[in-house]
Amino acid sequence: MFPYKDASLTVAERVRDLLSRMTLEEKAGQLNQLPTRDERLQARIAAGELGSVLFADSAFAGNDKQARVMVGQVNELQKLAVEGSRLGIPLICARDVIHGHTTVAPIPLGQAATWNPPLAKGAQENAARECSADGIRWAFSPMMDIARDPRWGRIAEGFGEDPYLASAFAAASVRGFQSDALPPEERVAACAKHYVGYGAAEGGRDYNTTEITPTTMWNTYLPPFKAAVEAGAMTIMSAFHEVDGIPLAAHKHWLNTVLREHLGFTGAVVTDWGSIYQLIPHGVAGDDAEAALLAILAGNDMDMCTELFYRNLPTLVRTGKLPLAVLDTAVARLLTVKFTLGLFESPYTDPARAARVQSIPAHREAALHFARQSLVLLQNRNNVLPIKEPNTGILLCGPMADMRGILHGTWCLDGDERHTTTLKEAMERLKPEAFKLTHVGLIDDAVKLARWNNTCVIALGESSGRSGEDNCTTTLELPAGQIEQVAAIHAMGIPIIAIVFCGRALALERLCQLADTVIIAWHPGTAGGIPAAEAVYGLLNPSGKLPVTFPRNSGQVPLYYNHKPTGRPVPTKNRYHSRYIDALDSPLFPFGYGMSLTTFAFTALEVDKSSAKVGETINVSVTVTNTGDRTGDTVAQLYLRDPVATISRPVRELKGFRRITLSPGESQTVTFPIGPEELGFYTADGIWCVEPGLFQVWVGDSSEAPLSTQVTLVPATTV
Ligand code: GLC
Repeated sequence: MFPYKDASLTVAERVRDLLSRMTLEEKAGQLNQLPTRDERLQARIAAGELGSVLFADSAFAGNDKQARVMVGQVNELQKLAVEGSRLGIPLICARDVIHGHTTVAPIPLGQAATWNPPLAKGAQENAARECSADGIRWAFSPMMDIARDPRWGRIAEGFGEDPYLASAFAAASVRGFQSDALPPEERVAACAKHYVGYGAAEGGRDYNTTEITPTTMWNTYLPPFKAAVEAGAMTIMSAFHEVDGIPLAAHKHWLNTVLREHLGFTGAVVTDWGSIYQLIPHGVAGDDAEAALLAILAGNDMDMCTELFYRNLPTLVRTGKLPLAVLDTAVARLLTVKFTLGLFESPYTDPARAARVQSIPAHREAALHFARQSLVLLQNRNNVLPIKEPNTGILLCGPMADMRGILHGTWCLDGDERHTTTLKEAMERLKPEAFKLTHVGLIDDAVKLARWNNTCVIALGESSGRSGEDNCTTTLELPAGQIEQVAAIHAMGIPIIAIVFCGRALALERLCQLADTVIIAWHPGTAGGIPAAEAVYGLLNPSGKLPVTFPRNSGQVPLYYNHKPTGRPVPTKNRYHSRYIDALDSPLFPFGYGMSLTTFAFTALEVDKSSAKVGETINVSVTVTNTGDRTGDTVAQLYLRDPVATISRPVRELKGFRRITLSPGESQTVTFPIGPEELGFYTADGIWCVEPGLFQVWVGDSSEAPLSTQVTLVPATTV
């Protein structure tokens, strides 16, 4: 038996042995990933010309309906590699399993609204259990791009505007896919993407140029990837865009220097679809060979769907332009992933597993629990919620009331709609006996019936097709015609509960004027309309908190809470400051905001010491009390500010959060340690810096929490 087939050896020993037996073409083949739509796929696999198959028949998989992954097809392709090719190196089969496989979790932006990362871990464990049963062992997930501009359609796919919150969800998601709680054959290689700064696209236009200073890159866009690396992410995907004139597919600094040397990432980097070839239209490569050379020298290992590695690297080595060691390093990284996943020992997937996991009730229950916690109550004027008896006539209308698959959200390729409930179905199924529910599809019928009902529930929002990759909008207003429908109902004088299904922050100022109650349900996944219906009937007390700022109007963006103070800070009575003359400075709803049907008080904000040396930890504690009449969840959020530092620091930064459940009258003291990790910042060179001086501290239930104190750091060497 060749040593590389001997599972008793270490992965490194097996990689070394296998490398020594491979030709240049076979090495380049391992760096080659092709989509299932390639018409010569079988022949090429048998010839050892590719190391991975991407199960996607479109480059915009997030929105184009895809053929379901079938484990039989995967096993057939695997058989060609394992039994047909010379060295029998198994394929690693990849798919965009972003927020679920057949069971669909809320979109990641909705997941972040729960402020409950352990639920994300559980959801990705379930996704791994499901997709690995179909033979998928590489999920191009989690996406963790910080997004400050909701015009960008891919804001749906990430965890919002804050690096601290996004880092917690990124790490939890990675740990879910690669979980020790899963048997080895169910573990899936996570892929932290899109490295790095993709969400900073100018104008919120996908793939566009970004202008990211080094300190902003280090302090805003990089932290989730640092967290993913520390969580053990096996792979990372480099992004399409360019930073400071260099596309990430050719960016030696951010890949080799920062990702590998500074962050210590040892896994494999895959380029995004076509991005090696795109170095040519980017204007940094003159031809295919130059593009391939730039990409591999920068630190990319797997070539997604251009074949430029396969076609050019052997010649580049033979002509001395590419050191063999660089090629071998890339191949070793990918072989290490395959050995670690156990693909050499168990390349095939037992088809019986696929049948077992197609619909696991526990997965659906978990997805429903996740979606329940993601619901954000933005307003509840006149306490319309929960609907009270004998107020019994409910009129349900609006374009999203009867939608099913749309509620899965963008980047959902294998979601099983059979288990997804529409809002209409949920409201019919959950309706309390005394209530009368009337659903009408047309707004003119709804207007006519309004006067005979006590409350109108109107279901609004975006199609999943208006969200995700290559779906950027110039406006954040609700889609055409929806506000007019609300206005028509409003004119009939009955209370309105608006349920908004969406994949981004929207500009809802007009809706909030017309509707009494406004709930953000995101795109909730398999749970569909159940959580929203439960909230309408008072069966669910909403507890979500916004992971992204909701502006008053589209012209305000980019608008985010952790902004710099500028030389003319707001709020201010002074005339000359950074603002628009035609709108208030503030957002409609700030980061971290979300109401409950009960109320909470934050009191007794204390620190165990008011000053400490640099490097020491201070404990901040606060008492949270449920001052209302029903049990509810809230999220205690800790924000810090360094008002005087070497560089201008944000007016507030999230540095701790804790989701808690309190019954009426119950109090709980929450303590947050603040130490170097929380008090420091990165310099432009990526040096973590903790400076002495005063720090402001806030704790509350949004980024506008008023309860504050302060602490002082003194130099560590103070005698
Ligand atoms: C897409 C996306 C990326 C995805 C890849 C494969 O263009 O940018 O997130 O994983 O291609 O579908």
